[in-house]
Amino acid sequence: MSLSLPAIRSEELQRLPSPQLVIFRDRLLSNLDSMLKVARSPSRLRPHCKTHKMHRIIRLWLERGVCKHKAATIAECEMCAAAGATDVLYAYNPVGPNIQRLVSLAGAYPQCRFKVTTDHEGPLRQLSAAAAAAGVTIGVMLDVNVGMDRTGITPETPGAAELYDLVRQLPGLEQAGFQVYDGHQRQADLMQRRVAVAEQWPRVLQLRAAVESLGSQVPTFACGGTPTFPCYAAMSDPAIETCPGTSVLSDSGYGNAFPDLPFAPAAAIVTRVVSRPAANRMTLDVGNKAIAADPPKGARVLFPELPDAVQDIHSEEHLVLVTPEADKYQPGDVLLAIPVHVCPTSALYDRAVVVDNGRIVDSWEVTSRNRRITW
Ligand SMILES: Cc1ncc(COP(=O)(O)O)c(C=O)c1O
Repeated sequence: MSLSLPAIRSEELQRLPSPQLVIFRDRLLSNLDSMLKVARSPSRLRPHCKTHKMHRIIRLWLERGVCKHKAATIAECEMCAAAGATDVLYAYNPVGPNIQRLVSLAGAYPQCRFKVTTDHEGPLRQLSAAAAAAGVTIGVMLDVNVGMDRTGITPETPGAAELYDLVRQLPGLEQAGFQVYDGHQRQADLMQRRVAVAEQWPRVLQLRAAVESLGSQVPTFACGGTPTFPCYAAMSDPAIETCPGTSVLSDSGYGNAFPDLPFAPAAAIVTRVVSRPAANRMTLDVGNKAIAADPPKGARVLFPELPDAVQDIHSEEHLVLVTPEADKYQPGDVLLAIPVHVCPTSALYDRAVVVDNGRIVDSWEVTSRNRRITW
């Protein structure tokens, strides 16, 4: 898939302050359509909103019949429910005051079914007590660790089935299935990713059999992210929901790592040259407060017009490029930059400028970039 960007009319670019997050609406809509095509039905999609954190994009999903969403923060959950989502999975184990925040949210949005993940009895019992006291019901998915080792419980852990079974015994909770997130599966070749998913799947089915033997139900498996999206989408189990997030905006990290994926970058940063400190150096205003800095230094951004420039100093408000082409640029010149990792990049901006057919057509709020909206 192309790692180029659509053009923006020069006069429109000139009036944009930099650095600025831009969304290419036609690209975004094409990514949503491609995701629906891969998933084969809106009911098999539960897109993760952490990538964009935008109310307006949740609305675009709802217009396309996608009512189930995944979120990583309480603010993202609130954004989804306020936009009209009817099923929101807080893909996180609620702990501390976040338990009450989620329960309050469930009380405020009765049309929306809220779900959480769990891998431990302690917070689960606290959630049950809070939900029962508030008179709400929260769905619970067992967070199944299939090898990423970030959260979850491995299918073979003694007590895993019993933990899920506990959900149906506790007031205020109901069983919602398993979350199977496998962010460690990053094979460049799609066939190898398919094999890896096929190898881990029998462990998940074995755990389902174990919980069913206790009398529990597993109505849904919420599976994978963007790299394994096509793998789960091709599987026939009707309980499978796919949970890609990054594919909505896409980025150069996934674009380079997974060339099979049919998504193109729909977000970029408008940046300007601010200095030319040496003959082969040009300094841009896309510092590490303007683009995600979790990829390694030197590999945080792609400039389609200068793909071979070396990214040298990357400080808070400056990025120094070393390139023999520096002499073609002057302070004030504009470049477009594709983030290597778009999710933490969008969270750095309070609004995104929306471009269509080269023109600025709108400005969207990055609604849940802060940790708290109401609750
Ligand atoms: C639990 C969970 N589900 C789904 C996703 C979406 O994955 P991706 O960013 O690969 O689309 C993520 C991403 O971090 C995640 O943490």
